Amino acid sequence: MTGPAAVGTEAAGAAAVPAVLDVRGLHTSFRRGRNVIKVVRGVSFRVGRSGSVGLVGESGSGKSITALSVMGLIDKPGFIADGQILLDGGTWSGCPTPS
Ligand SMILES: Nc1ncnc2c1ncn2[C@@H]1O[C@H](COP(=O)(O)OP(=O)(O)OP(=O)(O)O)[C@@H](O)[C@H]1O
Ligand SMILES: [Mg+2]
Repeated sequence: MTGPAAVGTEAAGAAAVPAVLDVRGLHTSFRRGRNVIKVVRGVSFRVGRSGSVGLVGESGSGKSITALSVMGLIDKPGFIADGQILLDGGTWSGCPTPS
């Protein structure tokens, strides 16, 4: 299955202006027993200030898991296996845990 594609005013490519959100080579997987299921395999997109990006793809292609990964909301048995998520140029380590 083909993964999600990013479309919008700031989708993919090397933008001249710094991105507010820069997702690079995101890989998200889930452990199931001894197996690792690779759900998101190398998704990259950028969102500029005042820009917007939509993720499109068939059902099950990984749109929701991509969005949850960016928000830091992937829990075990899921994990981000590779890639970078940069927010305003700094590494984004996810949402704070609710108290
Ligand atoms: N908790 C989970 N454990 C294992 N696999 C999962 C889990 N959640 C989602 N997946 C798998 O990840 C893949 C991507 O799911 P995702 O929900 O991101 O798809 P989607 O593109 O948002 O689909 P839809 O358009 O139906 O909302 C699917 O194959 C799904 O079965
Ligand atoms: Mg979805």
